[in-house]
Amino acid sequence: MSLVQVIGGGYVGLTTAASFCHLGHEVEVVELDPARRSKISSGSAPFFEPGLEALLEAGIRAKRLRVSSPDTAEYQSAEFVFLCLPTPDLPDGSADLSALYEAVAIAAPRLSAGTVVVSKSTVPVGTARQLEALLARSDIALVSNPEFLQEGAAVSAFLNAERVVIGADDAEAANRVAALYAGIEGRVVVTSVESAELAKHACNAFLATKLSFVNSIAALCELNGADISEVTEVMGSDSRIGPKFLNPGPGWGGSCFPKDSASLLHDARRAGFDFQLLQATIAANEQSFDRVVERISDSCGGDLKGRTVAVWGLAFKAGTADVRHSPALAVIARLHAAGASVVAFDPMVSRIEGVTVAEDEYAACAGAHALTVLTEWPQFQWADLGRVAEIMAARVVVDTRGIIDVDRATHAGLQVWSVGRAHHGGTPDASSVRS
Ligand code: UGA
Repeated sequence: MSLVQVIGGGYVGLTTAASFCHLGHEVEVVELDPARRSKISSGSAPFFEPGLEALLEAGIRAKRLRVSSPDTAEYQSAEFVFLCLPTPDLPDGSADLSALYEAVAIAAPRLSAGTVVVSKSTVPVGTARQLEALLARSDIALVSNPEFLQEGAAVSAFLNAERVVIGADDAEAANRVAALYAGIEGRVVVTSVESAELAKHACNAFLATKLSFVNSIAALCELNGADISEVTEVMGSDSRIGPKFLNPGPGWGGSCFPKDSASLLHDARRAGFDFQLLQATIAANEQSFDRVVERISDSCGGDLKGRTVAVWGLAFKAGTADVRHSPALAVIARLHAAGASVVAFDPMVSRIEGVTVAEDEYAACAGAHALTVLTEWPQFQWADLGRVAEIMAARVVVDTRGIIDVDRATHAGLQVWSVGRAHHGGTPDASSVRS
């Protein structure tokens, strides 16, 4: 059993802390925010993440998990210090590393010799070297151990990791960090510090590129009478491509892909490389948002002024309440700019600035001239479409996630544009508007 200190009680920090605790380690979470600290110490998660609360509760009950402030943290007893701090994007696309620097500056003089400091936050390549310089302790090793956790499935992603990446100069420090993960079946990949940092960015940028590509192929399907689910089935059955991350959508978002792709692009430029592919990936994502709005506009007879659009879904994907860089918000901003009124519903998001949020999916549709599905919540898939058709002012659905059964919707009297499928039923015109 080792004392693992986790600095930062956000998605990554708490998942890391609760999972290490589950693996048998003693863990101290160091969190700045008192409200967050009191929630965690009572065994509740300050945000929605399936499975996390059960592990937190178990850790606290077993007295293996505790929470401290940066002032009271037991730095001197920590054998490992995991840095799990946010690295948000600055206006120029670069990552704001100030929280990391601050945490290292506080910990540096207090740590005991032999402690391993582990950088888990997603950071530009070269950050660990800067942290090492700031630490200025030759008796302390600094290791990069990037996270690959998907929100909504973070605990399972940690405990069933396909690989644990450890970037280290010091083989002994790498082995000690690897030993913390004993009990996890994924293979340990030891690399240089720089490779580990860049690998994390490369994974996210590659996945974002895969999605931009799929969304572009979906556009071609719509224009050519092909069906994206058939095309991706063929693509995904090629083991060189793989079946995951081939679901088309309104565009990609979340707290990671947009910020990390902007950061990688910024770092590439600074290093002297014009990363045109990544630039195109980001531009194609904006094009996806624009296309969704064009579709909605078409379905409203070509003009959104004075129209009301019902939006199903605000979270950036199903399984989370997170709306950071949500595609839904990008689409809503464009709808507002085009003069439409928006009434939204999301099962996990009840309030959001600048958006009218309805009580349920049906209330959102009352009097709407179009409905658009932007998050793939299962309850939307099984909604009573007859009821939806009854209360809308015009019976049009723009389904960007491809979860609405077109036959069922057609039977209910709705016209559906489903992502990556040729539109059936003709473009609705103004005469289909009932009020
Ligand atoms: C992403 C990565 O998947 C994680 O491996 C990584 O650790 C994490 O970022 C991070 O850097 O911390 P996450 O942001 O939770 O995880 O979200 P994803 O599940 O990757 O989804 C990102 C976006 O892609 C969402 O808007 C989602 O709806 C979209 N998506 C994903 C699709 O449109 N289609 C798909 O097939 C998959």
